[in-house]
Amino acid sequence: MPDQKINILAIESSCDDTAAAVLCNGKILSNIVATQEVHQQYGGVVPELASRAHQQNIVPVIHQALVKANIDKKDVSAIAFTRGPGLMGSLLVGTSFAKSLAMGLKIPLIEVNHMQAHILAHFIEEPDFQKPEFPFLAMTISGGHTQIVKVSDYFKMEVIGETIDDAVGEAFDKSAKILGISYPGGPLIDKYAQEGDPKAFKFPKPKVDGLNFSFSGFKTAVLYFVQKETKNDPEFIDKNLKDICASIQYTIIGILIDKLKKAVKETGINQVAIGGGVSANSGIRQALRDAEKKWGWKCYIPKFEYTTDNAAMIGIAGYHKYLKKDFSDFSITAQSRYKI
Ligand code: KG4
Ligand code: ZN
Repeated sequence: MPDQKINILAIESSCDDTAAAVLCNGKILSNIVATQEVHQQYGGVVPELASRAHQQNIVPVIHQALVKANIDKKDVSAIAFTRGPGLMGSLLVGTSFAKSLAMGLKIPLIEVNHMQAHILAHFIEEPDFQKPEFPFLAMTISGGHTQIVKVSDYFKMEVIGETIDDAVGEAFDKSAKILGISYPGGPLIDKYAQEGDPKAFKFPKPKVDGLNFSFSGFKTAVLYFVQKETKNDPEFIDKNLKDICASIQYTIIGILIDKLKKAVKETGINQVAIGGGVSANSGIRQALRDAEKKWGWKCYIPKFEYTTDNAAMIGIAGYHKYLKKDFSDFSITAQSRYKI
């Protein structure tokens, strides 16, 4: 750890959360998230509304992060920001703000890949949390991504499997929508699932080669199932909601674990970390704890606040780039598609 204090101000604006955090030598001093509620009534993120809300939120969120951290902006060592992947209009707000602030303060600017950051969240300095050792496998599961990544070093990552269509978060959210559950449906499916029977209904698992995933057929299977059952009994959903949610969750988690098992077998690496919004799911968290007991894996499960989008993860990625003096040029632009 360096002798001097390295204070990173991190900004995340890739989707529908405006977030800022301050980290000192990898430890969190503040971690602020403004979740945009405007999208709820539309059942999904509306990009134009997201970028407008980011514009409104960014100044107060950054101000709050600095105040909470008790840091003056002249003590900030560098600004880290999410360059991509994400919604272009949303990314532009964070990118432009980060560039202007770093330029004004005459400090380094550090670009961060959002998906790498979900993985590097495991390296945030936390008293009771063990950090993974390289190499390890990371499964990033969110509303926009589903990947299995071989992580050989902080920024040496290789995607060895990914979805060929929908992300796993979409499988949760779209299934929820079919059931009339409000957006984002993942957390509510999880909540109902905990009181339901996971084997009450059976949904098919997709057959996809290698370590790749597919979830678009799953959502269609849920739709046809619900249409068929509600034709026979219009109150079918109300009567069986918990069992349907438990069965959906059980199937999705089964799909994820099957692929992880395959990845562990193929790579010989049995250290497994998860990240991204869906890693908040109680089913996947339990499945990994079971895997430790059953198959001897070593699993890393993030704290809840680091699962969904946050700026602390951008900050830790920025900190490790700072240590390598990996700074960005001020001509840098946002990138909506940005590979790990
Ligand atoms: O990482 P994230 O905040 O944003 C993206 O980068 O996509 O992930 C959001 C996704 C949504 O699809 C949401 O439904 C899902 O994470 N999610 C969950 C849970 N909490 C959030 N899915 C299942 N169970 C949960 N407990
Ligand atoms: Zn994310």
